[in-house]
Amino acid sequence: MSDSHAPAKLWSGRFNEPTDAFVEAFTASVEFDQRLYRYDIQGSIAHATMLAGQGILSDAERDAIVQGLEQIRKRIESGDFTWSVALEDVHMNIESALTEAIGNAGKKLHTGRSRNDQVATDIRLWLRDEIEAIRSAILRLQSALLEKAELEAETVLPGFTHLQTAQPVTFGHHLMAWFEMLERDRERLADCNSRVNVMPLGAAALAGTTYPIDRHRTAQLLGFSRPAENSLDAVSDRDFAIEFSASASILMMHLSRFSEELIIWSSAQFGFIELSDSFCTGSSIMPQKKNPDVPELIRGKTGRIFGHLIGLLTLMKSQPLAYNKDNQEDKEPLFDTVDNLKGSLKVFADMVPAINCRKEAMRQAAQQGFATATDLADYLVGKGTPFRDAHEVVGKAVAFGIAEGRDLSEMSLQELQTFSQEINADVFETLTLEGSLAARDHIGGTAPNQVRAAIARARERLEPA
Ligand code: ARG
Repeated sequence: MSDSHAPAKLWSGRFNEPTDAFVEAFTASVEFDQRLYRYDIQGSIAHATMLAGQGILSDAERDAIVQGLEQIRKRIESGDFTWSVALEDVHMNIESALTEAIGNAGKKLHTGRSRNDQVATDIRLWLRDEIEAIRSAILRLQSALLEKAELEAETVLPGFTHLQTAQPVTFGHHLMAWFEMLERDRERLADCNSRVNVMPLGAAALAGTTYPIDRHRTAQLLGFSRPAENSLDAVSDRDFAIEFSASASILMMHLSRFSEELIIWSSAQFGFIELSDSFCTGSSIMPQKKNPDVPELIRGKTGRIFGHLIGLLTLMKSQPLAYNKDNQEDKEPLFDTVDNLKGSLKVFADMVPAINCRKEAMRQAAQQGFATATDLADYLVGKGTPFRDAHEVVGKAVAFGIAEGRDLSEMSLQELQTFSQEINADVFETLTLEGSLAARDHIGGTAPNQVRAAIARARERLEPA
């Protein structure tokens, strides 16, 4: 950023004294909003095209503006553009460079427009693209989960409630739970995008403009679904950014929960999985350590994403209509949210194939925690025992098992019969892990054939024929 000879401000007409140097730097946003340059130029080209279509600019002026802006885009992309803090933001830097390059026609670009509708348009154009990029990144993670779930459709895992062994599930079924959560995240973002994709341009500063503009034409040129209905609302509200941050927070909450499981499972105490070396780091002091840094960092990043949501809500909550400079503060949290979300999704999708299951450890754990106790109760119900009585009977059998250090499947038929005369030799099918899994044979259940069917339906949803 160089400011050896500060360029003239585009709004300096009514001012007699120069801006205080610190105030100038304090109020400038160019350092971060230059990131919007492509969208700013895209919006300006559409605006100039519409103005010419309405006879507000001549065709020659439009051509000069369009070519000038395209040149500026190339200069920015090749690093041959000097951003000036004195010109405050991306909008005035580009407009000023345009006038420098093409003369008077450049000064006409801002006809019928304000930075207030311009900046709201730029953010919406940018966010629209980023939402699609994030949705693709979710899809990539979902595909990785599907592949893994298919491989592990029969792998036995103890299912937990309260982090206590509950009932056996398959690891494939467990992975598909994450798939479903991500599917809702993807839907939520698509829904959010339908409200992002509305055009503020034409609202001008706050009340609209006196020129005979055609907002439908500009919206069409920019691929917006429609122009915003109310000019005051269009320049002031950032609810679309808040809604995006809320969707991003829910998504990160899911990634954080998933990360937490990977962290717990890769501990020596659980030992259910091992993450490949490429997703772990060592300790500078403890030679034995292999730390699950990637999921830990994703879990940690969730904090800043939630923070940005609260930041944006608070930014908005006291603003009277219409535009206020407060809104300049919407960009950094949004940029940070998008960058960290995309990074987290990418590394997560790369990591899923690197989750190595330790199937024996999973199976052993499932065998230890009386995971088939509910199956025994259901067995007794099948023999005519009311469920509450069956629950009581099995509870006594479990207490016996705990005292003896044995699972239900390790008891003899005689031992089991001391708890209920209804128990016969066929009970042992019920008490196997495979029997327990196979019995949950309905849509949404953990039976391996149901898991496979769920995976097939999920593939259909992702890649409709
Ligand atoms: N840099 C400003 C922002 O990010 C652009 C709009 C400024 N408008 C104004 N009237 N000061 O919101």
